[in-house]
Amino acid sequence: MNQTARIEVLAGPEARRYDEVRAVMPRLANGLSAEDLAAQAMSDASPGKWHLGHTSWFFEAMILARDPAYVPVDPRLQQVFNSYYDAVGTRVARGARGLMTRPSLAEVLAYRAEIDRRTRNRLETGLDGPLETYLFELGLHHDQQHQELFLSDLLALMAASPLDPAAYPAEPRLAAPASATASSDWAVFEGGRADVGAAPGAGFAFDNEGPRHTVWIPPFEMARGLVTNGDWLAFIEDGGYGRVELWLADGWAAARGGDWQAPLYWRAERDGDWSVMTLAGRRPVDLAAPVRHISFYEAEAFARWAGARLPTEAEWEYAAITEGDSLSGLFGEVWQWTASAYAPYPGFRPTPGTAAEYNGKFMANQMVLRGSAFATPGSHARVTYRNFYYPHQRWAFSGLRLARNAGAAGVAFARALGAGLARTPKQVSPKWFYDAAGSALFEKITVLPEYYPTRQELSLLRDTAADIVARFGAGAVLVEYGSGASEKTRLLLDAAPDLAAYVPIDISPSALDGAVAQLGQAYPALKVLPLEVDFLSAVRLPVGTPAGRRIGFFPGSTIGNLGPGEQRRFLAAARDMLGDDALFILGVDLIKDEATLVAAYSDATGVTAAFNRNLIARAARELGAAVSPYDFEHRANWNAEARRIEMHLVASRQLRFVVGDHEAVFAAGETVHTESAHKFDRAMVEALARRSGWRVDAFHVSGMPQVALAVLSAI
Ligand SMILES: C[S@@+](CC[C@H](N)C(=O)[O-])C[C@H]1O[C@@H](n2cnc3c(N)ncnc32)[C@H](O)[C@@H]1O
Repeated sequence: MNQTARIEVLAGPEARRYDEVRAVMPRLANGLSAEDLAAQAMSDASPGKWHLGHTSWFFEAMILARDPAYVPVDPRLQQVFNSYYDAVGTRVARGARGLMTRPSLAEVLAYRAEIDRRTRNRLETGLDGPLETYLFELGLHHDQQHQELFLSDLLALMAASPLDPAAYPAEPRLAAPASATASSDWAVFEGGRADVGAAPGAGFAFDNEGPRHTVWIPPFEMARGLVTNGDWLAFIEDGGYGRVELWLADGWAAARGGDWQAPLYWRAERDGDWSVMTLAGRRPVDLAAPVRHISFYEAEAFARWAGARLPTEAEWEYAAITEGDSLSGLFGEVWQWTASAYAPYPGFRPTPGTAAEYNGKFMANQMVLRGSAFATPGSHARVTYRNFYYPHQRWAFSGLRLARNAGAAGVAFARALGAGLARTPKQVSPKWFYDAAGSALFEKITVLPEYYPTRQELSLLRDTAADIVARFGAGAVLVEYGSGASEKTRLLLDAAPDLAAYVPIDISPSALDGAVAQLGQAYPALKVLPLEVDFLSAVRLPVGTPAGRRIGFFPGSTIGNLGPGEQRRFLAAARDMLGDDALFILGVDLIKDEATLVAAYSDATGVTAAFNRNLIARAARELGAAVSPYDFEHRANWNAEARRIEMHLVASRQLRFVVGDHEAVFAAGETVHTESAHKFDRAMVEALARRSGWRVDAFHVSGMPQVALAVLSAI
């Protein structure tokens, strides 16, 4: 369904809407102790008791007190519950709200009940004109804002306790859950002349959302999905928090000053995993879930690391309006940092009267966030909504989605290659091998006499397909990671004619297109739903995937191309995506004698060398780098300690060439590590499975040279 159409609106008679909105916060407070509701974790966060009172005071100050004959419920509460309205008089300092043991919780709830009674009476007599009607709506939306703050502030308080208390048995959601898509799947936008901001008469909007005005948006790309915890872990493991070149100066100072090593509320556990504090207590970090509790500075550094940038708020709004249905998590997961400073729109005029202080006076030094969070009431979200926080703040439910300039796919390659060649020792991910030429070369490798893995795996699959497929059940969905030409897949498709769908996932568009066309001819009845993403960030199957049991398929020992931590994270994320009753067929190459291993990666005819050199050929072709693939020798060696074959490119002479923003400098004989192919034994596969939420149900081994197919089931 279109995300923008999914937004609920606050509708219906005023009194009913009032009751509905006002019922939420007491529900959130229900079950919490008076102590939970009285304390505050820091000056940015307020106690629950204060939120209950302040949102009531707002109706009193903004609406009830407009009547000159109005007598306040208790004049002393005016200063207790005034937040920042200078025009209304003095108030308790923000950081001292947690010291207010008086009024008691019971007194605050009584005050709340009395304000509700008076406001209902006022609604019965009728609101006085458009301004008062607007202020009433403002009061409802203000209450909803504080419902979310109630939760973020409560989490800050719970996280301050060494006891890791759970505020609730399950995390409360005030918005419907959003569907998710991979953060590396890009939607392309033409941009151009566009109108942004709230249109008059289009329903409630805060004053800062207008006036609607025209902007010019150059072509851009935006990630269909939100950045996930798994993505963030890759940033951490790549030293993202310690690399000054990724950070804004103020961000670097904030990160150093606050000793930031991970998002707020994350904790490194002894076993090397991360846990996170949530409203339901401390939990393992869910790698497929959107990252939360990051500052603007972190979001900005992450985007630079990922070879992308944050979207401007105009881009975000334009994308949500024009293609909201193909973007996931726009609303209802996390607020998304934008690159836009919180400034007035051209012609901005604050709401007249006391409410003038609502938004306008904060228009300096803050950044805009768009969308809404799981803790934002669904009827409070709008496509024009401008949330704002200071760039260092992290306690809000804040995350990010990436954007980049149009045509930036090449930029991502340039950034990754440039950054990899600037490292010591030089290292680049093997995923960059696979442009059209690289994918074609890989297919040639699979039929080389020395390259036993494909041959052996095919033969093993032929022998075991019936046994493996017998475990599927009817109507299953086969999901293949790094599917390439989908050749091996055919053995499973032949053995399981009742599959409901096949989802090939690959980063190479040419490989995917070719496979889909070939399968369409050979299996015309099969539903094929290709997904062109980095499988490390695939979190959601394509829209329209049938409901059957999920069967993961990861052949070719491609898992061996990942580092040990990545292997575990990948399998754990696959477990999350495929669900509780999933199966997973994992192909691994087994440890064997060095000569056989090395020969498989350095064939006599030089095809593997050409595949390896394609990285340089691609840099010359796509990025105009002044370097020849023949400036490098191909080398494959067995690293016994790490139990992996390593492929390197060795500079045959001293070299200097420019890649994107970097100049790559090689001494003669210096290498760049382009691929690792880790090898396994059964015990290693069992340990890996156990640590990532799987159990080994079967372990089929081929004849010599041996490869294996492990059948895993989710635990
Ligand atoms: C070694 S080939 C294996 C192909 C095939 N599954 C087989 O067993 O013969 C690796 C495949 O994974 C794809 N690939 C590599 N890294 C990837 C990534 N990070 N995300 C998605 N696909 C990736 C490549 O494009 C290629 O098609």
